[in-house]
Amino acid sequence: MGQEPYIDVRELTVVYGGETIFENENFRIEGSGLTMVIGPNGSGKTTLFKSILGLVSPVKGRVVVNGVDVTGHPEVAGKIIGYVPQLLEINASFPVSVKEVIESAIILHRAPPRLLTPRYLKERILNLLNKLELREVANKPLRELSGGQRQRAFIARAIIWDPSILILDEPLSAVDPKGRIEIVKLIAELAESKLVLVSSHDPSLFLPYAKAIMVVNRGVLAIGSPEEILNLELLKQVYGDSVMLIQECMHLCDSHVR
Ligand SMILES: Nc1ncnc2c1ncn2[C@@H]1O[C@H](COP(=O)(O)OP(=O)(O)O)[C@@H](O)[C@H]1O
Ligand SMILES: [Mg+2]
Repeated sequence: MGQEPYIDVRELTVVYGGETIFENENFRIEGSGLTMVIGPNGSGKTTLFKSILGLVSPVKGRVVVNGVDVTGHPEVAGKIIGYVPQLLEINASFPVSVKEVIESAIILHRAPPRLLTPRYLKERILNLLNKLELREVANKPLRELSGGQRQRAFIARAIIWDPSILILDEPLSAVDPKGRIEIVKLIAELAESKLVLVSSHDPSLFLPYAKAIMVVNRGVLAIGSPEEILNLELLKQVYGDSVMLIQECMHLCDSHVR
């Protein structure tokens, strides 16, 4: 039995060009389940993820993941955490097939040598292609796929070695409404056995599956269960007038679950 996955952030301070994005943040996320990170554009969601992934070096503080200090060390963090960056950051016209996207991760995220036999790899890739319903498009270039298929290809890449922690940055932003439900279900399923952090500025779809919500706005304003977090006062502080939209979604989700 492995230990429960966790992310422990201590006294994290991140500054970009003189602008403080996070100051002295402390939080801990533990165990499998879906934690939704919400906050307006520019509030620091991506910066927070990149700090956890060691891609941003804080001016102060530490990030410990599953007992390993990964602060400023993406090569260490990358062995523990699967990461799906926002699709906007990926050049989808690059002439590479779904299969190649997945295969390239095998080299990047070094696997235990005993697993690197051609037979095992072939099986592993086939399993992933089946699980993520990508088998039929496996040899197609990314640009010929739908947004949802492309997103699933990058999720496959991130989970190739079955990481205990998975971070997805705005996984719905480049996906059409029909494809979104499938992506949400897939992420919810992965969160049954992994610690999953997902950012979204339309949280309604993830809400029924979220065990926790973290509210970010140039700092971590709150972290807790959906019931604790989704109160009007707090959300108004963060979102101002657009909060009504979220409240309506909340009712919608409530009626779906029951
Ligand atoms: N590499 C960078 N260099 C300087 N400023 C940045 C960089 N990345 C993000 N920022 C700034 O940090 C703030 C938070 O950005 P970001 O983390 O991308 O927010 P979000 O993901 O919530 O939209 C924004 O003001 C953005 O302009
Ligand atoms: Mg972002």
